[in-house]
Amino acid sequence: MTHKHFTIDDQATLEALLMHRRDVRGNNFLPDELPQEAIDQILYAASLAPSVGFSQPWEFVIVKDPDVRQQIHQSFNAVNESAASEFSDEKQALYDRLKLEGILETPVNIAVFYKPSAEPVLGQHSMLEAGEYSVVCAIQNMWLMSRAMNIGMGWVSILNPEDVKKALNAPENHKLVAYLCLGYVKEFYATPELETLRWEKRKEIESLIHQDRYPDSYE
Ligand SMILES: Cc1cc2nc3c(=O)[nH]c(=O)nc-3n(C[C@H](O)[C@H](O)[C@H](O)COP(=O)(O)O)c2cc1C
Repeated sequence: MTHKHFTIDDQATLEALLMHRRDVRGNNFLPDELPQEAIDQILYAASLAPSVGFSQPWEFVIVKDPDVRQQIHQSFNAVNESAASEFSDEKQALYDRLKLEGILETPVNIAVFYKPSAEPVLGQHSMLEAGEYSVVCAIQNMWLMSRAMNIGMGWVSILNPEDVKKALNAPENHKLVAYLCLGYVKEFYATPELETLRWEKRKEIESLIHQDRYPDSYE
C-alpha cells in the first residue's frame, strides 16, 4: 500500500502555518467579500478533522445577514461589559481598549455547533466531552486552512450561547462551540496581539512537560 510521504519542506510549511496563524479581530479585517469557493474550501478542511468514533458531530451556520449579525453583536456587547469587570483595575483599562471581535467588520461569520448523537458513539462512553473536542479539531483545521489561503479568522467566545442559538434558530440540543469571523486582512501580526500588548506571554514549553508522572513537589 502506498502512502503519501511528506518532505522536510512540507514540515517547514506546516510549521510556518502554525507559527503565522493569528486570531484576527475587527481592527485588522478588510470588508472585501470572500468568494463562496473560499468558504467551501475552509469548510471542506473542517470536514477532514478527526472525530470521536468518526461521529463528525459538527454543523456550521454561515451568517452574512446584517440583522442577524447585529443581534450577535449585541450579545457580545452585553457579555463584554460584564467580562471586563472580572479583572483588576489596571487590567480593565487595557481590556477596555482591546478589540475582541470582528462580527460586523467581516463579510462572513460562521457559527460552529456540536450536534450530540442520538446513538452511542464509539469512544465517547466515559468522556462525553470527546464530541465537543472533535468539533474543536474541525475549527483548528478551518483556522489553518484559512491562514494557508491568507484569509483571517477570529474566534469570538465573548457571547451568550443562548442568544446566538436564538438568533440562528438553532435546535435546542445543539451546543454552540465557536462563533468565527472570517475575511481578508490588512495584516497578519507576527506575534499574538495579547502578547504584544503585554496581556499574556507565551509559556515556556519546557515548564509544561513532565516525565512519567507529576512531581510530588508540583504546585
Ligand atoms: C476557544 C477560544 C476562544 C477565543 N475567544 C476569543 C474572543 O472572544 N475574543 C478574542 O479577541 N479572541 C479570542 N480568542 C483568540 C485568542 O485570544 C488568541 O488565540 C490568543 O490570544 C493567541 O493569539 P493567536 O491566536 O493570534 O496566536 C479565542 C481563542 C480560542 C482558542
